[in-house]
Amino acid sequence: MGGAGSEERAVVENREWYLAAYAPEGVPTSDHLKLRTVPLSLAVDSIPDRHLVVQNLLISVDPYQRTRLTGLEDGLYFPQFKLNEVITGFTLGRVIRSKDSNYKEGDIVLNAFSPVAEHYVVPSELLIRKVDPTSGVPLPDFLSSLGVPGFAAWVGIEVLGDPKPGSNVFISAAAGAVGMYAGQLAKLKGCRVIGSTGSDEKVKLIKEEFGYDDAFNYNKETDLDAALSKYFPDGIDVYLDNVGGNMLEAVLNHVNKHARIPVCGMISQYKKIWTEREGVRNLLNIVGKEVRMEGFLVGSYLDRFGDFTKEMQSYIIEGKISSKFKIYHGIERYLESLGSLFTSSNVGKVIIEVNP
Ligand SMILES: NC(=O)c1ccc[n+]([C@@H]2O[C@H](COP(=O)([O-])OP(=O)(O)OC[C@H]3O[C@@H](n4cnc5c(N)ncnc54)[C@H](OP(=O)(O)O)[C@@H]3O)[C@@H](O)[C@H]2O)c1
Repeated sequence: MGGAGSEERAVVENREWYLAAYAPEGVPTSDHLKLRTVPLSLAVDSIPDRHLVVQNLLISVDPYQRTRLTGLEDGLYFPQFKLNEVITGFTLGRVIRSKDSNYKEGDIVLNAFSPVAEHYVVPSELLIRKVDPTSGVPLPDFLSSLGVPGFAAWVGIEVLGDPKPGSNVFISAAAGAVGMYAGQLAKLKGCRVIGSTGSDEKVKLIKEEFGYDDAFNYNKETDLDAALSKYFPDGIDVYLDNVGGNMLEAVLNHVNKHARIPVCGMISQYKKIWTEREGVRNLLNIVGKEVRMEGFLVGSYLDRFGDFTKEMQSYIIEGKISSKFKIYHGIERYLESLGSLFTSSNVGKVIIEVNP
């Protein structure tokens, strides 16, 4: 195992999660993802030039990782992980060996394709960047408000949703990583913001901590159409879709003329093979209401990442955007933490602290 003192050792017993079997449906289990221990040499001679050894500190747990476990190349996000290979994700780690003069031991680095492991060896050119741990921004924020979830919320709301003061904005999975920032960003634009989420506790949280004007528990609303009539008497101008399925269908009955629907994800459908997914029967409403519905991936907006960072960082410093984290302690909890995204047992941004 890693942890304090690994800097002095020549070999670490490195724990890593690998794909043992594909999971086309349902929530992945220990049949699909397994933890193994593999010795990793830290001897400087064994590290190639312009490579680093990184000890992971924080691992981001994200819904798209589940879409890479199906074994089905059905066009979702990224290619499938390979059997018996270590899975990857966004991480923040500390450099503990460096064969690149641009990096020194102790540097904190961000990696979008890090092995979900305690340590890894990487060509330095594959890292996203260094992170300044003295910037005043807590490290978990680089995987959350200033990372993919914050950026996805910003692209969805500010770039594609383009809400005006007074616009009626609806956000699903509103208590999750993307949802908590999307609601706060829309409020900062002067919108009326309503969220849906899966429990009464989360309804309370998003109203009290993230400033949503109102919210409802979709598990309690047996008639989503009626719920949206109640919460949107003047219709919906912007819907940031995180869940797809029957919620999207209900929304399409309440959209205003020229509404925007930035489609960030459709998590309600990720556990199903595509022929079993829910169809949306009233897509025709997009025509009559001239709705702009647009899927997006944050990776296509990297030219706006600087604008996003500047804006988000100032909101954080001014205390206008807050975050909630669900931290799991220890890499052995990765499988459980991934499952929490699909059983609604998470709240805020889910992160693994690797060596607590
Ligand atoms: N396009 C991009 O570039 C991009 C980037 C990041 C994330 N995303 C997408 O954004 C969405 C949110 O991601 P996140 O990282 O912020 O995850 P998250 O919201 O923190 O966690 C997932 C949440 O989805 C909800 N959920 C799970 N199964 C559901 C179902 N069957 N029906 C309705 N809600 C369900 C649960 O919340 P409840 O308690 O509300 O049920 C769960 O907490 C996902 O669709 C993800 O794929 C897209």
